[in-house]
Amino acid sequence: MTSPSRHLVRIPDSIDFATAAAVPLPATTAYQIVHDAAEVSADQTVLVLGAGGTVGTYVVQLAKKLGATVIGHATGDRLEHLESLGIDRTVDYRAHEFDDPALPGGPIREVDVVVDLIGGEYAVRAVPLTRRDGLVVGVPSGQQQGLGEAATSAGVRWTSLIVEPDHVALTYIADLIENGELEVTPPQVAPLEDVVDVHRKMAAGRMSKTVLKVNA
Ligand SMILES: NC(=O)c1ccc[n+]([C@@H]2O[C@H](COP(=O)([O-])OP(=O)(O)OC[C@H]3O[C@@H](n4cnc5c(N)ncnc54)[C@H](OP(=O)(O)O)[C@@H]3O)[C@@H](O)[C@H]2O)c1
Repeated sequence: MTSPSRHLVRIPDSIDFATAAAVPLPATTAYQIVHDAAEVSADQTVLVLGAGGTVGTYVVQLAKKLGATVIGHATGDRLEHLESLGIDRTVDYRAHEFDDPALPGGPIREVDVVVDLIGGEYAVRAVPLTRRDGLVVGVPSGQQQGLGEAATSAGVRWTSLIVEPDHVALTYIADLIENGELEVTPPQVAPLEDVVDVHRKMAAGRMSKTVLKVNA
């Protein structure tokens, strides 16, 4: 197997090969959302829908690293995890709708950036919570139906992205991991022979991100 050298960086000493295999896709996606698409800055408020997921956890950390105020929408023990990562406010989606005007602690409004990692109607529902000229980033591929129309009529910018190999992002991420400044959750690991079972369980939502190990 070969790979362009610009797609590769040295694995930080603090993580093993399986963990390293699980980092580039979600962490590079998060980098390209936070640094490239949204150009998040310290004076901004970022709302992350699906904050407890793989990409979301990196988005929260990278936006906090830039000094932004971050609000995350998640549930269960992911809420505590996000709080341990320094998130400023969480909304438990099992208890409240994120766009509820009677949200405890006050309604979410006038955010600068929305990162939608869920899809469907979520990004459209976030438009009224976004300030004029703010930005909604729709990440799930092909799931931004209605977002362009809703955003344009509200004077809100919107975009979507497809992650690309990115040496600048990978280098930045590897440095943060090396310095203990980016938390990485080790993935589940299964032998390659289990590939069919792993895919079935993932499709049924019963298994999180899994690295398949050759000769495990
Ligand atoms: N465009 C690109 O280049 C690109 C790159 C990477 C990923 N993606 C896409 O980005 C999305 C997120 O990826 P990921 O790897 O972070 O996935 P993930 O680890 O499965 O996380 C998704 C998160 O969304 C939450 N969620 C799902 N449905 C929800 C709902 N109805 N209400 C509230 N929360 C909900 C889940 O919460 P629970 O855990 O509580 O269920 C989970 O925390 C996926 O659609 C993926 O395909 C796109």
